[in-house]
Amino acid sequence: MNTVLNNTQQVTEKKSPEQALAALAAAYPGEVAFSTSLGYEDQVITHFIFSNTIPVEVFTLDTGRLFSETYSVWNSTLERYKQTIKTYYPETTAIEKLISEKGPISFYESVENRKECCYIRKVEPLKRALKGNKIWITGIRAEQSGNRQDMPQVEWDEANNIVKYHPLLHWTFDEVKAYISKYNIPYNPLHDKGFVSIGCAPCTRAIREGEDFRAGRWWWEDSSKKECGLHIKM
Ligand code: ADX
Ligand code: SF4
Repeated sequence: MNTVLNNTQQVTEKKSPEQALAALAAAYPGEVAFSTSLGYEDQVITHFIFSNTIPVEVFTLDTGRLFSETYSVWNSTLERYKQTIKTYYPETTAIEKLISEKGPISFYESVENRKECCYIRKVEPLKRALKGNKIWITGIRAEQSGNRQDMPQVEWDEANNIVKYHPLLHWTFDEVKAYISKYNIPYNPLHDKGFVSIGCAPCTRAIREGEDFRAGRWWWEDSSKKECGLHIKM
């Protein structure tokens, strides 16, 4: 029986996201971490945590290939809340080897190369970031993709040996937008230019009306392969 999973389900049940985050932080002090990509959903969760001073570590994975707009909203967030966003970088030796051997845009050549880059720039740093934690908070929403539709709000992540909690799983895009506007939360200006899900600059484009939320991520690949490895099912 997975005690942390069961406890997390119980502790978060019938609570607002803010109450649930506070209750989890109290139940697992120093063992709850939230990963932010500085996107719309993540800015809402950052606001919950920082404006209520909930003791949950907020961290980001800087792949080194982010949009300049992402760095701007990151900085505005630090200025607004005056709290820390812990930052993880790719391991120097691995990234130096990749670029020396395959050049700076090998990810366009094959799915294998793309996954190699995502592993070095995101997946391995994520493992370091999650070390020592019991609960991982994300900004995933069900609406974002087909395989997120059936995701439980609290789940076990086999790859990282950790319980995941998605406080905004059932929020709609409009609810997220309205919350950002109501509390005047800093957000990535690319969201106003058709970008919905924002990752690395060379691998993200704006979407057209009617397109899937994740159509702008790794758009040159078959849609069944569009996960970077942060949220895979084993
Ligand atoms: S991804 O798997 O395609 O890259 P997506 O962009 O949908 O993920 O974001 C889903 C959640 O993953 C975010 O809400 C955030 O919790 C986490 N995440 C994604 N990218 C990063 C990042 N660079 N740093 C920290 N967390 C991230
Ligand atoms: Fe590399 Fe693109 Fe993955 Fe970013 S999204 S880590 S640039 S392959």
